[in-house]
Amino acid sequence: MAHSVVRVAALADLHCTRTSQGAFQSLFANIADAADIVVIAGDLTDYGLPDEAAVLAKELTALRIPIAAVLGNHDLESAKSAEVRQILSDAGVTVLDGDACEFSGVGIAGVKGFGGGFGRRALAPWGEAIIKQFVHEAVNEALKLEAALARLRAKRIIALLHYSPIEATVEGEPLEIYPFLGSSRLEEPISRYPVSLVFHGHAHRGRLEGATKTGVPVYNVSMPLLTRTFADRPPFRVFEMPVGEADNVQPMPAPSRGRRATDAIAS
Ligand SMILES: [Fe+2]
Ligand SMILES: [Fe+2]
Repeated sequence: MAHSVVRVAALADLHCTRTSQGAFQSLFANIADAADIVVIAGDLTDYGLPDEAAVLAKELTALRIPIAAVLGNHDLESAKSAEVRQILSDAGVTVLDGDACEFSGVGIAGVKGFGGGFGRRALAPWGEAIIKQFVHEAVNEALKLEAALARLRAKRIIALLHYSPIEATVEGEPLEIYPFLGSSRLEEPISRYPVSLVFHGHAHRGRLEGATKTGVPVYNVSMPLLTRTFADRPPFRVFEMPVGEADNVQPMPAPSRGRRATDAIAS
């Protein structure tokens, strides 16, 4: 194995449009410099159009490291997610939807997830059929995540989601939309498996970090949030994951603009 520590870059909510040519190239070059693998937590495109995916696919050629991604709700907007997925797969992206992959000893279980809210206030499957259907979707996504996690034997495991599994990382968003930003049902499988890190996006105005009830760190890596929080750095985060003997996972600051990635210091 090339590294006993694997550097994982994470970001989400690229919202690539038809006119985004060139917009991501320096970001992706920075990521390729700073990380060994990259995970993208959904909303890769703005309207889920194949044309947008094709623009992103071209941009991704700057990233010559393994890429795993999940789709987000925006990637489903035009009901062309199969085409979007195919274009991204052809560009070398491993698009996860209830399945898992492993790069350099790091296992990644990915699912889009769904809404429904958190904790005691989560939506329950009661009353109208359409409410039951809404809850069923969240339960189904949680089951898909569980199945993906069950497949992994890697020492370090990442759960990659678009929707949040906890309330803490959506705080800052308007209270009225919390139920549409994630679901506690996604937290349940994460608590049952030896997950090292959880990444999600979707909550553009949420909070950077939180943890599940069992203490698994959860990071909201939405690009608009990272851009706002770290104004002097490119909008992605890097995490060091030891794949040798047990050690703690360390988040690293992303390199400042103009600095080489190797200058980054563990915080
Ligand atoms: Fe988004
Ligand atoms: Fe989203």
